[in-house]
Amino acid sequence: MGKIIALANQKGGVGKTTTSINLAASLAALGQKVLLVDCDPQGNTSSGLGVDVKSVAHHLYHCFLGEVEAKKAICQIEGAGNFDLLPTHIDLIGVEVELVAVEKRERYLAKALAPLRSEYDYVLIDCPPSLGLLTVNALTASDSVIIPMQCEYFALEGLSQLIRTIRLVKNSYNQKLSVEGLVLTMYDRRNRLTYQVAKEIKNHFKERVYDTVIPRNVKLSECPSHGQPVIVYDPKSAGAISYMNLGKEFLKKQQVKRGQ
Ligand SMILES: Nc1ncnc2c1ncn2[C@@H]1O[C@H](COP(=O)(O)OP(=O)(O)O)[C@@H](O)[C@H]1O
Ligand SMILES: [Mg+2]
Repeated sequence: MGKIIALANQKGGVGKTTTSINLAASLAALGQKVLLVDCDPQGNTSSGLGVDVKSVAHHLYHCFLGEVEAKKAICQIEGAGNFDLLPTHIDLIGVEVELVAVEKRERYLAKALAPLRSEYDYVLIDCPPSLGLLTVNALTASDSVIIPMQCEYFALEGLSQLIRTIRLVKNSYNQKLSVEGLVLTMYDRRNRLTYQVAKEIKNHFKERVYDTVIPRNVKLSECPSHGQPVIVYDPKSAGAISYMNLGKEFLKKQQVKRGQ
């Protein structure tokens, strides 16, 4: 039975999409069967993997509303371990309004993804930068959450809001939901503020913070315009090495959890 993991943080630009794409690619390269679900209507995950959403027949919006089986909307991403993508489209924004008065509106994504769970080792969901209905659906569909964090002054403030939302979803809709881990992104070792914020995050979340930190690396910002994960675009770059390390650390932690 596969594990479903949301990558969430209501702040924009913290590395959710970069981590979704590159963790999915690393896990695939490490032999895991992976599905990446693009749950952000902006579609950066889909375009960053070279999928032209205007040319796909079906996308997450159709699956969300139950019009199309999720299986039918999946595209295959090739290179460095293949993985699957459930692409999105700007139409997905409409879900927030269309479901506003519908009962159990937080469960639509869980329902759409349920038939796929057994076909993958991991299903990763890239969330939009908000705590609206799409993110609530992603959290309701998931077993756990990975929180990408950029170590800057306001990071912690946003974090408490996110943790409150996770607790709310857990208490109301999805008892099994837990925080899988926090990933420090765009890490700059020479910056004192980065160091201080990272220390505070570690004091609070302890072993849930991954030891692997993702440095600021220009290859990571370039690779989406080539439609490739960084391990394909430049496998020797610091970005590729750190996301491979994150994949390995993630899998090691899963092994420990299963053994407990
Ligand atoms: N480690 C990194 N080094 C350099 N640029 C990065 C890194 N992580 C993300 N970026 C860039 O920062 C911007 C925001 O990242 P993104 O993953 O899209 O964040 P989010 O999905 O949280 O909004 C993008 O332009 C991305 O290419
Ligand atoms: Mg994003």
